[in-house]
Amino acid sequence: MMTPIFLFFLLSSIFTVEAQQGQSIVKPGSILTPTTNSSWLSPSGLYAFGFYKQGNGYTVGVFLAGIPQMTVVWTANRDNPPVSAQVTLNFTSDGLLVLQSAQGTETRVANFDPAGSASMLDTGNFVVYNSDNQSIWESFQHPTDTLLPTQRLLADDFVVLKSSVSESNQSTGRFRAVMQQDGYVALYPVGTNLTMEYGYWSTSGGVPNGNLNLDDQGVNICFPRGLCGVNAFCDPGGNDINCICLPGFVFIDESKRTSGCERNSTTENCNGKGMNTTMEEVSGIIWENLTYNQSLLLTKQDCNDACWQDCSCEAALFNDGVCGKQKLPLRFVNIKIPIDPKATLAFIKIPYFCK
Ligand SMILES: *[C@@H]1O[C@H](CO)[C@@H](O)[C@H](O)[C@H]1NC(C)=O
Ligand SMILES: *[C@@H]1O[C@H](CO)[C@@H](O)[C@H](O)[C@H]1NC(C)=O
Ligand SMILES: *[C@@H]1O[C@H](CO)[C@@H](O)[C@H](O)[C@H]1NC(C)=O
Ligand SMILES: *[C@@H]1O[C@H](CO)[C@@H](O)[C@H](O)[C@H]1NC(C)=O
Ligand SMILES: *[C@@H]1O[C@H](CO)[C@@H](O)[C@H](O)[C@H]1NC(C)=O
Ligand SMILES: *[C@@H]1O[C@H](CO)[C@@H](O)[C@H](O)[C@H]1NC(C)=O
Ligand SMILES: *[C@@H]1O[C@H](CO)[C@@H](O)[C@H](O)[C@H]1NC(C)=O
Ligand SMILES: *[C@@H]1O[C@H](CO)[C@@H](O)[C@H](O)[C@H]1NC(C)=O
Ligand SMILES: *[C@@H]1O[C@H](CO)[C@@H](O)[C@H](O)[C@H]1NC(C)=O
Repeated sequence: MMTPIFLFFLLSSIFTVEAQQGQSIVKPGSILTPTTNSSWLSPSGLYAFGFYKQGNGYTVGVFLAGIPQMTVVWTANRDNPPVSAQVTLNFTSDGLLVLQSAQGTETRVANFDPAGSASMLDTGNFVVYNSDNQSIWESFQHPTDTLLPTQRLLADDFVVLKSSVSESNQSTGRFRAVMQQDGYVALYPVGTNLTMEYGYWSTSGGVPNGNLNLDDQGVNICFPRGLCGVNAFCDPGGNDINCICLPGFVFIDESKRTSGCERNSTTENCNGKGMNTTMEEVSGIIWENLTYNQSLLLTKQDCNDACWQDCSCEAALFNDGVCGKQKLPLRFVNIKIPIDPKATLAFIKIPYFCK
C-alpha cells in the first residue's frame, strides 16, 4: 500500500490536551540518554525532543509523544546510522548539544553558537536561545521531511524537504520539495537540477492546512518523475502506483516495484553467435534526454536502424528529424497521455537469443 504524501493531521481532533502556559526550559548541564530521561517534552506533552527507537538503535529528533504510533517530524543527522543505547545527549555547559558515545566520540546534533537555553514548543518547533533569550536555531528552519501546521518552507532560503526512505527509516529518500516564490510547492527527484524537465508542481498553491509530509512515494499517483526507478514508468491510469518496465526489462526487485527495472538479458555479444537484437517502437514515452550521439535523419526507420546497427546504442528518441541515441539506464521515463502520434517516438533495443 502506498501512503499519500499530503498527510493531514487533524491534531485538534486527536488531541484534547490543553496547551499549558509557559515553556519547558532546558538549561546547559541537562542530559538525555536513550533509556532513562530520553526526551524533553513540550508543555502540553504533545511533542518531545530526544531519543526515539530506530532499527536496533536510537536516533535524536522531534516526535509526537503520547501516541502509540511513532510519528517523527524532525530528525537530527538523518543520514547517520542509529546510535547505541550507551550514548549520552549532553547539553554541555558551554551551550552545545552533542551526542557522546561510550568511546568518547562527539557529534553535534545541530550547529548553533553557544546557547543559553532550549525549549520544545507545543507547535513542534524545538528552539535554541542565546543568553539574551533570542532564538538562534529552530528545527522549523531545518525541516527534514515534514512540515507542521505553523511551519513554512521559506522561498528565499530555498529550504527543501527531502523525503525519508520509509516511515521507519528517516534517511534521505528520493524526492525533495521546494517552496517557490509564488507559494507553490514543486517536487524534484533528489540529485537533479531544479529545472522544468524534472519538476512536478502541485496544482493547489501552498502548503495545505495541515502537515506536508514528503514520503518516498512522492505525490499523486504518477508524480514526481522517477517514481518507478530506472527503465520503468508509472501507469497514469491506475488508482495506485503501478510501475511498468520498458519492453525487454524486468523488475530489479519484484517485491519492491518502485526500485526500477533491468534488462532481462545483455547486449554484450550483439555480433556474436546465437544472439541478435530487435528494436521495439513505443509511442508516447519520453525519458531524460542524455544523448551521446545525435544526427539528422529522414524517417523513423532510419533512427530505428541507426540504433540497431550501433552496439553502444540501447535506446533512441526520434523527434522532428532528430535521432538521439542513448545508453542505459533510462531515467525519469514518462508516458504522455493522450498519445500524440506526431510527438517523440522511442526505440528500445531488445536482445534475444537465436536458436
Ligand atoms: C531525570 O532527570 C531529572 C531532572 O533532570 C532528574 O531529577 C532525575 O533523577 C533523572 N532520572 C534519572 C533516572 O536519571
Ligand atoms: C535506511 O536507509 C538507508 C538508505 O537506503 C540505508 O543506508 C540504511 O541502512 C537504512 N537504515 C536502517 C536502520 O535500515
Ligand atoms: C557533558 O559535557 C561536559 C562538557 O561540557 C562534560 O564535562 C560532562 O562530563 C559531560 N557529561 C556527560 C554525562 O558526558
Ligand atoms: C530568559 O528567560 C528566563 C526564563 O523565562 C528568565 O528567567 C531569564 O531572566 C531571561 N533572561 C533574559 C536575559 O531575559
Ligand atoms: C545541472 O546544471 C549544471 C549547470 O547548468 C550542469 O553542469 C549539470 O550537469 C546539471 N546536472 C544534472 C544532473 O543535470
Ligand atoms: C526473461 O527472459 C527469460 C529467458 O529469456 C524468459 O523466460 C522470461 O519470460 C523473461 N521474463 C520476462 C518478464 O519477460
Ligand atoms: C539478426 O537479425 C536480422 C534480422 O532478422 C538478420 O538480418 C541478421 O542476419 C541477424 N544477425 C545475426 C548475427 O544472426
Ligand atoms: C535532446 O537534447 C538535445 C540537446 O542536448 C536537443 O538538441 C534535442 O532536441 C533533444 N531531443 C529531444 C527529443 O528532446
Ligand atoms: C552518430 O550517429 C550517426 C547515425 O548512426 C552516424 O552516422 C554518425 O557517424 C555518428 N556520429 C558520431 C560522432 O559517432
